Amino acid sequence: MPMASFQAESEGVDVDIRGFLSQKSPFYQLADDGVSCTLCHQMLPDNFGKEESFSGNFVIDEKTIRPDRRIFGPFVPAMAQAMRNSAGYTPEEGKHVEKAELCAICHTLYTPFLDDSGNVAGKFPEQTPYLEWLNSQYSPDMPCQKCHCPRAQEQRYHQDRQTCPRDHRSSGMCLQEQMPGCLT
Ligand code: HEC
Ligand code: HEC
Ligand code: HEC
Repeated sequence: MPMASFQAESEGVDVDIRGFLSQKSPFYQLADDGVSCTLCHQMLPDNFGKEESFSGNFVIDEKTIRPDRRIFGPFVPAMAQAMRNSAGYTPEEGKHVEKAELCAICHTLYTPFLDDSGNVAGKFPEQTPYLEWLNSQYSPDMPCQKCHCPRAQEQRYHQDRQTCPRDHRSSGMCLQEQMPGCLT
């Protein structure tokens, strides 16, 4: 529940994973969404690849107000104004979205474990595909995206506009189902 936890923390509210699951919680919707388009696409490369970025410690701009909030993709945007008007974000080319270090933020995951008295006794590496990749023959020329974000087999249109040129969902990466017409 990266979005719910992040939002709760930035509002100074206790992070309560079980509480998020109650429909009465103001964070329920964010918890249910998990990871959305705008989360991945807003991430800044400031801490990419650093240990402090792991376990979901992404950096996003929390100060800029919509529609000036920047949202990044691999291309120079063709219709920036249309996106500002309709989605409230300003698209910008950001080659950092093509880097393995973006995926590493959430997929290098250290989880605390408890001792017999219930105190945190340390952390264990729950997921480390980035560290494995770093030490494999695929690094650095074949980042995660090359395998996990393949091009869609056909062009996809949503309300007469091309919205998903990449097949995020069938590549097992996109957890967002807000655009069902597009992502099935
Ligand atoms: C888990 C992170 C993540 C999520 C969630 C995500 N994206 Fe992406 N998206 C990426 C990455 C990484 C790329 C760049 C892939 C590349 O260039 O290899 C990308 C590329 C794109 C592109 C550029 C298309 C292209 O041909 O490269 C568009 C448009 C896009 N995403 C839209 C969306 C939309 C809309 C959603 C929500 C339905 C979404 N993304 C959800 C990470 C994500
Ligand atoms: C904001 C955090 C976040 C980022 C960034 C992120 N992921 Fe994920 N990813 C998740 C979560 C959460 C899950 C779901 C884990 C679960 O099943 O409980 C997941 C699941 C996955 C899965 C398994 C999907 C399945 O069907 O089992 C793959 C593969 C994956 N991500 C690849 C990527 C790649 C590649 C990138 C970089 C382009 C990326 N992720 C970026 C959070 C993230
Ligand atoms: C050379 C292609 C390739 C690259 C590069 C690659 N992966 Fe994978 N990844 C795979 C394949 C194949 C699977 C296994 C799919 C299966 O077993 O169903 C997989 C599985 C996964 C899973 C799911 C594991 C599970 O338990 O379901 C995650 C998460 C993941 N990769 C993340 C990453 C991340 C993060 C990177 C970059 C640091 C990365 N991968 C780089 C091909 C790749």
